[in-house]
Amino acid sequence: MNAIQHKPRILVFDSGVGGLSVMHEIQQRLPHCQYLYASDNAAFPYGTKAESELIARVDQVLHALLQHIEQGYGPVDMIVVACNTASTLTLPHIRSHFSQPIVGVVPAIKPAALQSRSKVIGLLATPATVARPYTHDLIKEHAAHCTVISVGSSELVQLAEQKLRGEIVAPEKIAAIVAPFYTAPRSTELDTIVLACTHFPLLKDELRHSLPEGIQLIDSGEAIARRVEFLLQQQPPVAHTDVRHGHLALFTKATRDVELLRTALRDFALENIEIVAC
Ligand code: DGL
Repeated sequence: MNAIQHKPRILVFDSGVGGLSVMHEIQQRLPHCQYLYASDNAAFPYGTKAESELIARVDQVLHALLQHIEQGYGPVDMIVVACNTASTLTLPHIRSHFSQPIVGVVPAIKPAALQSRSKVIGLLATPATVARPYTHDLIKEHAAHCTVISVGSSELVQLAEQKLRGEIVAPEKIAAIVAPFYTAPRSTELDTIVLACTHFPLLKDELRHSLPEGIQLIDSGEAIARRVEFLLQQQPPVAHTDVRHGHLALFTKATRDVELLRTALRDFALENIEIVAC
């Protein structure tokens, strides 16, 4: 028998497992929601994709995911694009295509510039996010009085995926990636680094080991969770008649790596996996 329930259903989306760092913050704040976590592993990684290709891909995947979820579970109340690389490019486009509220993740430049004492801040992101006009505008608007040392790395994204598959992450690899933070002009004054890729908070401990002591690492997860809570208060979810409300992980391609992620997914309360091939 179907029961009426008002449990908000939230789709959290990324190219891979990085968005789990954002979903975790939302889960802490809003434990009563149903979470559908989607990884577009068929098109991973996003950080090396051409802009037009990425805009088309995100649109295509979100349509396929929503159709799958709506058929099997019911309506989705909110979409969180838990990927800086996608958000800094595709938000205006997807907001015009979907009726749900869409929350995106953008580099936490503003809080970093406010919190830094030395006004020398680091930006660690994918090469695409580092290069985006959106990111340059954020720096101009909120950190024009700061020196910003930018480092783009796709390898760090791969290392976060490896960690969640249970593989060892070699400290030398992390050290080599963050090396420019030691050599750039004014790097000795660096006191704050923005983790502007959702994969990177998954490697916070490893990054701390490779960086000078005392450097503050800032990401957007908590701010996103607050935004989701605020929007849900503004727009209470419609009553769902579907009683299937466990959390769920969705992937766009069945691979061996998906199986290897099962243990890590359980740590985020994602017990079940479904494939939405697209
Ligand atoms: N997690 C994504 C981000 O926040 C990027 C990963 C990728 O390159 O696919 O930017």
